[in-house]
Amino acid sequence: KKRTFSGVQPTGNIHLGNYLGAIRNWVVGQAQYENIFCIVDLHAITLPIDARELHENTRKLAALYLAVGLDLEHCKLFVQSHVQEHAELTWILNCFTPMGWLNRMTQFKTKAADDLDSVSNGLYSYPVLMASDILLYHAHYVPVGDDQRQHVELTRDIAQRFNSLYKQPVFTLPQAQIRDVAARIMSLSEPTKKMSKSDPDPQSRINLLDDPKVIKKKIGRAQTDSERLVKFDPQRPGITSLLSIYQAITGKEQAVIEAEFEGKGYGDFKAALTEQLVATLEPIQKRYYEYINDMAELENILKQGADAVRPIAQETVCNVKTVVGLG
Ligand code: TYM
Repeated sequence: KKRTFSGVQPTGNIHLGNYLGAIRNWVVGQAQYENIFCIVDLHAITLPIDARELHENTRKLAALYLAVGLDLEHCKLFVQSHVQEHAELTWILNCFTPMGWLNRMTQFKTKAADDLDSVSNGLYSYPVLMASDILLYHAHYVPVGDDQRQHVELTRDIAQRFNSLYKQPVFTLPQAQIRDVAARIMSLSEPTKKMSKSDPDPQSRINLLDDPKVIKKKIGRAQTDSERLVKFDPQRPGITSLLSIYQAITGKEQAVIEAEFEGKGYGDFKAALTEQLVATLEPIQKRYYEYINDMAELENILKQGADAVRPIAQETVCNVKTVVGLG
């Protein structure tokens, strides 16, 4: 079986974009691959974060991974900082990554803005840590949303450069797995921006743990336009992004959805969307609260996950060190 690796940062609220763009696809493909899914807490400290919040968020995200249906028979789930090789390989790869490549990372440019005096070196080197995550396990596929495409490309570039420098296939070149539908879920309040954990406006996203009332309110207030036609149309990003969510959740074709709402208004469509969202999220939430209320079991699952993947990571680092002349 081919190996799949992916991760989510335990920061803020996990939202519909994270679910539809990434995590749901992990669940769908899990039986087909050998899967490793990580809670990337080392990435979470690249921006300031409260220690208790980080610790809690890490456990909450683990409970969510299980609640959405990741099955321990197919998947190893673990916390990044529990396997020290992530940090070790990152240092080595930092020394093999041209600064020019990192300067071109759009996510760093957006997050750091013009604030280079307050932003950390960790944020700058964030894509190298992500490359290490993937390369440590020789992953073939990396299922992510569209915003991570450039980081997976960089991972390939780093791997290729290293392999050709030492004239041996030390690293496997990974491929991003980005679906056509839902690869980029947009903000509900500003539909030209992507939905984001760090958006200060809570109305901008549906969190996976939002209750039905909150979902109804957020969808009700989601930005649309005055045309009142329920159709996919790039000129009208508000209704189009809501329709994409509906499409991703129901799995229906665009034409089928448009036919379904022909002659109906935004109110009818929003009610149908809300109903679908509630039906999707309620069972996840129910399972989430079961997992989060058994912390001992959750810690145990994470420990077993780390113990299971560590030997793979150790072997890679050992090999890399030999190749480089370290150790
Ligand atoms: P993160 O935590 O920002 O997001 C987790 C996953 O959700 C996807 N995503 C979205 N998809 C569709 N629409 C959106 N609005 C949206 N927002 C987020 C992301 O593409 C991602 O797949 N750097 C990564 C975490 C990471 C990682 C890795 C991923 C660290 N190491 C190794 C894969 C492999 C990140 O910050 O994702």
